[in-house]
Amino acid sequence: MSVFNAPDFDGHENVVFGHDEVTGLKCIIGIHNTNRGPALGGSRFWNYDNEQDAITDVLRLSKGMTYKAAITGLDLGGGKSVIIGDPKKIKTPDLMRAFGRVIDRLNGKYITAEDVGTTVADMDYIRESTPHVRGKSTGTGNPSPVTAYGTFQGIKAAVKHQLKTDELTDLRVSVQGVGNVGYYLCKYLHEAGAKLIITDINPESVKRVIAEFEATPVGLEDIYVQNVDVYAPCALGATINDQTIDLIKAKIVAGAANNQLKEERHGQALKDNGILYAPDYVINAGGLINVASETPDYDPKVVNTQVENIYNTLIEIFQRAETENRPTSFVADRMAEERFKTPVQAAAE
Ligand SMILES: NC(=O)c1ccc[n+]([C@@H]2O[C@H](COP(=O)([O-])OP(=O)(O)OC[C@H]3O[C@@H](n4cnc5c(N)ncnc54)[C@H](O)[C@@H]3O)[C@@H](O)[C@H]2O)c1
Repeated sequence: MSVFNAPDFDGHENVVFGHDEVTGLKCIIGIHNTNRGPALGGSRFWNYDNEQDAITDVLRLSKGMTYKAAITGLDLGGGKSVIIGDPKKIKTPDLMRAFGRVIDRLNGKYITAEDVGTTVADMDYIRESTPHVRGKSTGTGNPSPVTAYGTFQGIKAAVKHQLKTDELTDLRVSVQGVGNVGYYLCKYLHEAGAKLIITDINPESVKRVIAEFEATPVGLEDIYVQNVDVYAPCALGATINDQTIDLIKAKIVAGAANNQLKEERHGQALKDNGILYAPDYVINAGGLINVASETPDYDPKVVNTQVENIYNTLIEIFQRAETENRPTSFVADRMAEERFKTPVQAAAE
């Protein structure tokens, strides 16, 4: 088992292994970078095949959070934690409290929140052991509408840059996955006059969006070949890959899903095909903004302004990518690095 030599190790500040004898807790907290502030990122509870997979996941996910917080302009660093095991079998309130004690020993350097396999109720149990947790039942609640609103802003920015218009009336958008975020994104787009083509593995979700937003349903694999202006992936990761890229007729890829590019080189491939890509961690940062805002001086107006700023951030990325003749994904990474590689305080001095 290796951390320092793991391919995804990226100079992470801390990788903390936590264990609790009584509850059987085994967890790893990855803190990638705290130059901009404490590391915020969710707790993933997952039945990993082996510990090396858990290390890989925590290293990769915590690094991703640094980039997301930095590009969004939040005074936060990047961290993430994984709890090893099947949550359906081993998760108990006591185990979550024990996990809270591991977090507490880091004195606020890491702040946790919900992720795959953990719930708002779990955050409440963690809160019994540490104040360093967001997304409690008394907090800001479901982040999906906020994420969708940010994604909507991102689509507007991409349309402005690529199609040279502010007008969304009759814009054709294909949405892959109309779950929590996809549903609200369809709502915003419909209200703006866009025409929706949708798909989902869940027929009930499809029916609802057809009924409420006059969407046209298509088969799961047919979503790529639609004659649309925008393809919005809002389900799985890695849908931009060698099999799909040449099928995509849209001039814009802009959706909420995480890790849309199967590999980094697919950012270049989209560019080569004349498709403008809104980097996923930039356009879907609304959820992070929402969780980050959960402080005693929470102000919904500030949250709204930050989410709407996703538009400006993307315009900056698109313009710089054009000037430098680089993929937008490459430019977003460099911009994020410029923002987190120097400690915020040092930069201000
Ligand atoms: N919820 C948030 O605030 C948030 C924030 C940032 C990023 N994201 C990302 O956005 C995406 C959607 O998140 P969500 O919270 O809406 O999840 P969700 O589970 O509510 O929705 C995903 C939807 O995709 C559908 N789906 C699954 N496989 C599919 C397939 N092969 N083809 C078509 N549809 C498929 C599911 O049935 C579901 O309706 C995820 O990638 C998530 O990581 C979400």
